[in-house]
Amino acid sequence: KKISIIGVPMDLGQMRRGVDMGPSAIRYAGVVERLERLNLNIHDLGDIEIGRPGKTEEKSEGSNLRYLKAVAEGNKKLAEVVDHTIEGGSFPLVLGGDHSIAIGTLAGVAKHYDNLGVIWYDAHGDLNTVETSPSGNIHGMPLAVSLGIGHEDLTSIGGYTPKIKPENIVIIGARSLDDGEKELIREVGIKVYTMHEIDRLGMTKVMDEAITYLKDKTDGVHLSLDLDGLDPLDAPGVGTPVNGGISYRESHLAMEMLEESKIITSAEFVEVNPILDDKNKTATVAVALMGSLFGEKLL
Ligand code: ARG
Ligand code: MN
Ligand code: MN
Ligand code: MN
Repeated sequence: KKISIIGVPMDLGQMRRGVDMGPSAIRYAGVVERLERLNLNIHDLGDIEIGRPGKTEEKSEGSNLRYLKAVAEGNKKLAEVVDHTIEGGSFPLVLGGDHSIAIGTLAGVAKHYDNLGVIWYDAHGDLNTVETSPSGNIHGMPLAVSLGIGHEDLTSIGGYTPKIKPENIVIIGARSLDDGEKELIREVGIKVYTMHEIDRLGMTKVMDEAITYLKDKTDGVHLSLDLDGLDPLDAPGVGTPVNGGISYRESHLAMEMLEESKIITSAEFVEVNPILDDKNKTATVAVALMGSLFGEKLL
C-alpha cells in the first residue's frame, strides 16, 4: 500500500496560534518511521503552502468569518494535492493544522467516490454555518461546508458541491454541540454517537454499528480525526479541549476495528497544537493511533 503524507500548517480557522506547527510535531513524533515499519510505501509530500495574513486581514471582506480568504486559498491547494494523490493510486494521510482543512481534504477526496462515507471523530460537530457560528471560526464549520451548507467561497472549493451526503456521515465522541448544530443534525439526519452512547454501549458496539452502517452504502470512507475527540488527559495539546472524552485505549480499539474492516480510504489527523501540549504528547498519541489504523498489532 502506498501512503502519501500531506502536511497542512493551517492555524487561521481558529483563534489559538501554534496549531500550524502540528505537521512538524507529528513528523517529530516519528510518523514516517512508524508506518515504514509496517512495510508500507510512505511518501512524505511535505507541507502545503498556507498564507500568513496579518491581523488586519482577519475580517477583511465584510464577512464575519475569520481569515476567510486565506483559509479558502489554502484549502483549494490542499484539494488539488489530495485529488492528485488519489489519481496516482496513493492513500492520502493529511496532517493538520486546524480542522478547517477538512474542507480541502474532502473536496479532493469526494470527487473520486459516488458515495463517500465520513467518520468524524471529534468532541464537536463542526456543523456551524455563517449564521449559527458562535465564534466566526471556520474550524467549527467544515462538516456543514462539505454538506454544501455555508459560505460560497468554501462550499465551491473543488468546483462542485455538496461533497458528501448526511446519511453517509457518522460522528463519534460528540460532547460539545451548539444549538444550531443540534438542529442541523436532526433536520438532515446525521448519525451521532455522543459520549453518552460510547459510555452506554462501549466502543466495540459503537464501532461495530458505525462500520455496519457505512459498509454497504458507501464506496469509500474518510476518517477525519480531531485529537480533541480524545480526553484532554490523553491529548492535552488541542485548542478547544472538552472534558469527558474518548480514552487512549478506546481510540486504539476504534482504529484497530477500522483497520480490520478495511473500509478506510483516506484519513486526516487534525488540531495538534504543540504550543499547548505536554512534551509532544498529543502528536505522539496521533502517531500511535495511525499505527493502529494502518495495521500495527500488539502481538
Ligand atoms: N463549536 C465551536 C465553534 O464553532 C467550536 C468548534 C471547535 N472545532 C474544532 N475543530 N476543534 O466555534
Ligand atoms: Mn486535477
Ligand atoms: Mn473538535
Ligand atoms: Mn473538529
